[in-house]
Formats: sequence, structure tokens, C-alpha cells
Amino acid sequence: MSSNYGSYEARIGALASGEKIDLRSDTVTHPSPNMREAMYRAEVGDDVYGEDPTVNQLEELAAVMLGKEAGLFVASGTMGNAVSMLTHCRRGDEIIMGDRSHTYLYEVGGPARLNGSATRPVPTLADGTLDRERLARAFQGDDIHEARTGLLCLEDTHNMVGGRVLSPETLRELAAPARARNLPVHMDGARVFNAAVALGVPVSALAAEVDSVQFCLSKGLSAPVGSMVVGSRAFIDEGRRVRKLLGGGMRQAGIIAAAGIIALNEMVDRLADDHVNAKKLADGLAEIPGITIAPETVETNILFFGVRGEDGAAGDVTPLVTAAAQAGVLLSGGDDGRIRAVTHYGISADDIERALSVLAEAMRGLAAPVGA
Ligand SMILES: Cc1ncc(COP(=O)(O)O)c(C=O)c1O
Repeated sequence: MSSNYGSYEARIGALASGEKIDLRSDTVTHPSPNMREAMYRAEVGDDVYGEDPTVNQLEELAAVMLGKEAGLFVASGTMGNAVSMLTHCRRGDEIIMGDRSHTYLYEVGGPARLNGSATRPVPTLADGTLDRERLARAFQGDDIHEARTGLLCLEDTHNMVGGRVLSPETLRELAAPARARNLPVHMDGARVFNAAVALGVPVSALAAEVDSVQFCLSKGLSAPVGSMVVGSRAFIDEGRRVRKLLGGGMRQAGIIAAAGIIALNEMVDRLADDHVNAKKLADGLAEIPGITIAPETVETNILFFGVRGEDGAAGDVTPLVTAAAQAGVLLSGGDDGRIRAVTHYGISADDIERALSVLAEAMRGLAAPVGA
């Protein structure tokens, strides 16, 4: 780019954060300057006819990186998971998933509404794995009274337990009961690149343990829109039909796919910075009186923390979230009494320092007696 690249990037960064330190999610990231440039220059065609060269390139790149036969560009993570579930399962098949997984909690009841499928939740453990014993007993279908199990879904990294990483060995172990029954395994890998970077393994090593993966381009990888589904050629061919059914045939989608290509080529390695920043934030939070956090559990870019209430019980986090927001630090206050912070492109080590001083100050303010 031109010699004013630096100021352009600074301007983009400022737009991304709106002058605030936005730790609510890695979905708030804005496209990098190279993404905007690639979007501007993207060659496009009608993707529903299979004629958008940029979408085709992105789908091939995703498949190669994940070590699968084919890829499919979809509008969102939720659409990628829905396409996968509809493609793997017959109507009415049960789908097994963790009781704190995104697919179970936050995808609008898609399995029931779209597949006519019951979801069978298995307890999620603090490390993002599933209760093995309950998992082994969750498979159904031998008895005439039972709905047949059609699919097992796993999540890596696991959002609601704080971005915990499931290794290839752990995925293999969790997938084993499904494999023993010849059932497919789908990974909600919205942040699977964070898992790969944290483990120091190629993302294909994680994808090898499952039949299909959905991963998001528009979270830590910073693309403005989109997710990918990867799997076998036959699975993706059928998934393409399901995507059309869901209204996801996007025509000249190369405009947004171009940013996805930059995401995969340029934005993966830098996820390590987000992990360092998350750890720094967690360690700093542990030093602030009244905050509860287990910094040793922070493995990627997501962390949860709370505040100590009366008698050491979990306190109300709303006053802290509100005070921090007023001072320019945005956090997600969960209805489960925890605060979530997520590091991402656009959040620097300096921002973490600033966020920590804002939070320390806010905690002091909240602890001070009224009128003091
Ligand atoms: C683990 C996980 N899976 C899936 C999704 C859904 O992605 P999208 O918001 O693009 O539909 C999210 C979004 O936050 C997520 O955290």
C-alpha cells in the first residue's frame, strides 16, 4: 500500500475499537488493510453456478489447510454448523453435544427447528471435554423405542469454559464411541486455529480426528464475514445443496471470500499474540483485590472472571461491567455471574495494561463506601 499505510492502518484500528478497548468478543474485529485491498480487487462470478474464482480459491485453500477433500463457504458459524448437522443426519436423528456447547445453547434451537432432531446434552467438563461415562451412554437407536443417534458434535476451542483447547488425542478419545458405532463426528471449530496455534500443531491434525469442521473466518482471523465447512467431497457436495436450502447461495461472494483468503494466509500466526495478551490480562486480574480468576486455565484468547461477594460467594458482576464500560473498557457480563474477556486483532499489550488499570480503579471505586 502507499506510504500512508501506517496512518491508514491506525485509522482502521481506531474504527475497529471506536476508541474503546473492546474485549467483548473477537467478532468485533475489523478487516485488515490487506483484506480491504483484496476485497476491492477480488475477481468475482456467480458462486451458485460455481463460477466465483475467489470463492473457489478460498474453498480449496480451506480444504488443503484442514486436510479434507473439499470446503464450503458459508455466511456464519451458525450456518456452518446447521449445514453440517442437516447433511450428516436424517430427519429426526438425535445429535449428541455438550451441555455448554455453542450448538446446544446459542444456535436458536437449530437442530430441533431445522432437522427435527432432539439434542442429547452430555455434561461439559471444566476443560472443555465431555463426561466420558455419560457420553458412552448417550448413543441410542438399538431399541425400537429410541430415536437413532445420527451425530456427535465437539467444540474446539471451547468457548463457554474459557477457550480451552482439545488436543488431537483428546478429540480421538471423545470421538471413539461414535467411531465404534460408525457414526460421524462434527467439530464446531469456530476457533480451531486458536487451538492449533496454542498446541503448536497443524490445524489438519485436529481436523483429522473428525469428519467435518466448521470454522469461523470472522472471529480471531478478522475477516468481516463468513465461515468454512470442510469434509469429504460427497459431504460438501450435499452440504452445498443444504446451504442453498437455507438461503446461503451468495452469488458474487468473492468480495467477502477475498478477505477470507487473507485471513487464512496472514492472520493465523498472529493468534499467538492474542493468547499472550489474554494470559497477561488473566495474570493482572489475579492481582486485583476482589476479582476471582484461575489464570492457569487460560490457554487461548478467551477468559472468564468474577468478583468476590459476601462470604466469598460469587458477587454481582454488573456494577463492574458498567463501571468499566463507562471508562472505555467493554466486557461481556454473562447472566451466569461471570464476565468474559476476549483478546483479538486490534488489542495490543498496551491496551491490556490500560484495561487492567481501568478494572483495578473500578474495583477500588466499587469497594469504597458510599459518600467516601
Ligand atoms: C464456539 C462457537 N461456535 C459457533 C459460533 C457461531 O458463529 P456465528 O456468530 O458466526 O454464527 C460462535 C459464535 O460466537 C462460537 O463462539
